[in-house]
Amino acid sequence: MSYSKDVIDRVIEENDIVDVVSNYVSLKKSGKDFKGLCPFHHEKTPSFNVSQEKQLYHCFGCQASGNVITFVMNIENVGFKEAVEFLADRAGIEIEEENLSGLEYQKKKLKDEIYEVNRLAALFYHKYLYSKFGQAVLKYLYDRGIDDITIKRFGLGFSPANGLELFNYLKRRNYSTEILLKAGLISKSNSGSYYDRFKNRVMFPIIDEKNNVIGFGGRVIDDAKPKYLNTPETVVFKKGKTLYGINYAKKSKEDMFIIVEGYMDAIALYQSGLDNVVASLGTALTIEQGRLIKKYKNTVVISYDADEAGIEATMRGLNLLDELDLNVNILTVPNGKDPDEFVRKEGFDAFKKLLQKTDTLIEYKIKKYKEDLDLEKPADRIKYIKKVCKDLATLKDEVKRDVYISIVSKDAEIPENTIRAEIDQFVKGFLQNNKKN
Ligand code: GTP
Ligand code: MN
Repeated sequence: MSYSKDVIDRVIEENDIVDVVSNYVSLKKSGKDFKGLCPFHHEKTPSFNVSQEKQLYHCFGCQASGNVITFVMNIENVGFKEAVEFLADRAGIEIEEENLSGLEYQKKKLKDEIYEVNRLAALFYHKYLYSKFGQAVLKYLYDRGIDDITIKRFGLGFSPANGLELFNYLKRRNYSTEILLKAGLISKSNSGSYYDRFKNRVMFPIIDEKNNVIGFGGRVIDDAKPKYLNTPETVVFKKGKTLYGINYAKKSKEDMFIIVEGYMDAIALYQSGLDNVVASLGTALTIEQGRLIKKYKNTVVISYDADEAGIEATMRGLNLLDELDLNVNILTVPNGKDPDEFVRKEGFDAFKKLLQKTDTLIEYKIKKYKEDLDLEKPADRIKYIKKVCKDLATLKDEVKRDVYISIVSKDAEIPENTIRAEIDQFVKGFLQNNKKN
């Protein structure tokens, strides 16, 4: 579906470019036009020019130029359609309805209603955290090093223990039981009564790329189980399709996402000064998450807990990202700490150092093989060579391949030519397999 020229013209007309740009760039009047520091390249003297008369921008430094729609596409890192929707929302223009079929309209309406109750729920939890009932939980968050600014930025909250307050609050505002069930905010008990799904938990609203609240994670504040409870699958929340923190991270100027496992890891790194962190909220990365990453960035740094159970799943996820042509790097936090604990104890600079010492996927795999095998033993040495050669066969870059060949040759005490021949065998095998498919 695309938008008519009329719709697009209206969106441009009702979003003054100076207004929109001012949300991101501090502009000063300069003659007829406005000037500021270019948001698209690094500069110290302003060469970014905005013409109110022409409704266009132009940077004399990096030659970026366009209208209000291209500006939003570039600064928010979104496509044309999303930029039009963003600006339509901003100006309060209703553009969807007239272009949708009946069924599509129903579906969109349901989604919008879920977003709306979710947003209200998030605000409710957030307020409750700052009420007298939330004092102990607020202290829990402070004790974990999270400050008020961060709590606000991530909209953290607290869900009441009695399991009825959110339900009653939203009913009072005339939301139907049906929509609350569909949003996954309430559940039905065996006796047929309804109660809040999240009780006595620290609440983490999960927000998508378009700033919709699609679901929640809730953490216990004691040793109860499960430690984390998530929104069930709903029309808007699909486990494995979401990355926590994407709403902020997509805006980062870095062409890279740091991927961590947990909410608290993402939040702690954010607070310490990184703006490109997302959490995968489970162990194995999915193809959908991979595509979501690829939509915005070309490089990922994965920083997962190094527990043995997770390694197989982690490896599958890493291969998947590699197959999507992302540059995959692995950051290992020393001493089995998770990123949250590490950055809190060792500080931001120490974490930055780890970021500069990441392994590429091949390096990481080579390390893992060596941990599992005893290269003193011939049988293990053979296994090692075969495994690495198979990995190196998938590497497209000749220079990189040569570097690793020389490393493996030394490790396994075997001539480089033998390794090269073995890699060729794997390449031939791959090619034949591809032909068959
Ligand atoms: P903290 O103990 O608060 O620091 O949490 P953590 O993020 O360090 O927890 P952990 O490493 O145990 O888990 C990492 C992530 O996996 C969490 O942030 C959750 O998203 C998810 N997770 C952990 N435990 C559960 C659980 O019991 N159920 C579900 N659905 N997800 C969980
Ligand atoms: Mn943790």
